[in-house]
Amino acid sequence: MKIFLDTADLNEIRRAADAGLIDGITTNPSLVAQVAQDGAVTDMYRDICEAVDGPVSLEVVAVERDSMIEEGRKLADIHENAVVKVPLTEDGLKACRALRSENIPVNVTLCFSVSQALLAAKAGATFISPFIGRIDDISGEGMQLIHQIRQVYDNYGFATEILAASIRHPMHVVEAMLIGADCCTIPSKVLWQLSKHPLTDKGLDAFLKDWNAAGTEI
Ligand code: G3P
Repeated sequence: MKIFLDTADLNEIRRAADAGLIDGITTNPSLVAQVAQDGAVTDMYRDICEAVDGPVSLEVVAVERDSMIEEGRKLADIHENAVVKVPLTEDGLKACRALRSENIPVNVTLCFSVSQALLAAKAGATFISPFIGRIDDISGEGMQLIHQIRQVYDNYGFATEILAASIRHPMHVVEAMLIGADCCTIPSKVLWQLSKHPLTDKGLDAFLKDWNAAGTEI
């Protein structure tokens, strides 16, 4: 399973990339707004793309097909790692099809149903991003959507990769892995939570205590 970091924060990206733990990055307009200064974000997007050896999703903010395509081309030109992210609307699906015909990779985002995921695959999406946490937020079962999309994509041999998004805690990652999502995009807090186990800390404390008590050296 590929792990993407869901952030536009370069410090967090470099921390995870330096550890060799991430396969790519996803951003969205809200995440970018948290860290962007006034003005163009092109330089920031280029820095993010250069920080990882893998796909970096950069989202269009246009809502109409032709404007999305135009923005998508600009985003794709920033760096070879750029993946254009478009919303799962009628215009977004049309923009996806057009950008894919130019061989530009596309991540179709804001997916909340299996029927939407089917259309994204038909439009040639490189990635589909179902939003797990936001479905859970309204008392739905986000993980059920990952199950359904996996089944449909396998039934018909769609190559679109399932990118589980809106991940809120480690169990979301574990469940998505078990179902067979191709990728998970996770906030940096959750990435580091994945490494934690109280028995690891306890065991390490005991090892060091015993070692120091014996006065041993390497
Ligand atoms: O990047 C899209 C998605 O992961 C957003 O997550 O937590 O805002 O629902 P969240």
